[in-house]
Amino acid sequence: MPQTTFTDLCRGELELCGIGEGSTIAVLSQGNRKVDYVDAFLAAADQLGATGFNVRLPAVDSSLDGEDGIWEVGDTPLKGNRPAIEALKGVDLVVDTIFLLFSPEQMEIQESGTRVLLCIEPIEHIEAMQPSVRLRERVEAGAEMLGKAKTLRFTNEAGSDVTYQLGAYPTMTQYGYTDTPGRWDHWPSGFLFTGGADDGVDGKVVIAPGDIIFPFKSYVQTAIELTIERGRITKIEGGVDADLLREYMASFNDPDAYGISHIGWGMLETAQWSILAHDRRGMGMHGRSFYGNVLFSTGPNGELGGPNETFCHVDVPMRNCTLYLDNEPIVVDGEIVVDVLKADLPVGV
Ligand SMILES: [Fe+2]
Repeated sequence: MPQTTFTDLCRGELELCGIGEGSTIAVLSQGNRKVDYVDAFLAAADQLGATGFNVRLPAVDSSLDGEDGIWEVGDTPLKGNRPAIEALKGVDLVVDTIFLLFSPEQMEIQESGTRVLLCIEPIEHIEAMQPSVRLRERVEAGAEMLGKAKTLRFTNEAGSDVTYQLGAYPTMTQYGYTDTPGRWDHWPSGFLFTGGADDGVDGKVVIAPGDIIFPFKSYVQTAIELTIERGRITKIEGGVDADLLREYMASFNDPDAYGISHIGWGMLETAQWSILAHDRRGMGMHGRSFYGNVLFSTGPNGELGGPNETFCHVDVPMRNCTLYLDNEPIVVDGEIVVDVLKADLPVGV
């Protein structure tokens, strides 16, 4: 059997996105970056009978290439480029290789009914974490539960015990493709999340050794104990890792840096926890999507429609947690325990 090429992967992805005969796609890029992604998507679109083109913007020296990530998202190279924005609004699907996330330009494109697929991760990561209709079903089943719940509580053996009052914000899904008008997704990913009420998160989060901190892209070595009162971090205690996090958050000189952001859990059984030990490229979709993780996060909640717009955004995938919705266990010690949410797990040693 011939080797699978990236074009093959893109064709499968576009099919999941509902692209076929008569569809239109635009691949957004800047400068000479991600040329292989542009070529693969356009070839795949052509194979499917779709009409594709590349919107190529001048390269802007910024952190928008995905290596630095969403915590520094600001102005995009699309800002003020009206003809390019209009071209993107005119297609069924925009493949975004420059990282438009949370920009007004992306909002405008989505509001026109165009769906947006972010694709910026290393090809090997994309290949390792292929989406499927089954993943979507499981993520959407989780979203239905999360959307109905009034409280979310999670604990771990390190001493976490924190409760989120839900209902103020919508539930968001990421399953790695989008065939819904106006909907955004990120290939690859597999998780879901919502946010607690702005003053409705209380308790302790103890980030345990082995848990991951983004943007540091590192595994915590010494426990970090966060005290959270009425939706704000009021204390950061522990050893060297606590010192690093405390100083990082203080460097923004912004009280909103201490707000609590999205909360949810990972659903993608092919995501690898250990990836950062040998491959630090990309935005960390392995850790964020890891099956049975709890993805705890601090800072902005504008993505959910909230008022916190701080630039200090910390994502913390945590292992071995127990997560309850309205006191019903969903994840126990890092294992998903609700049948409709469970994946067929690969066999390990
Ligand atoms: Fe985040």
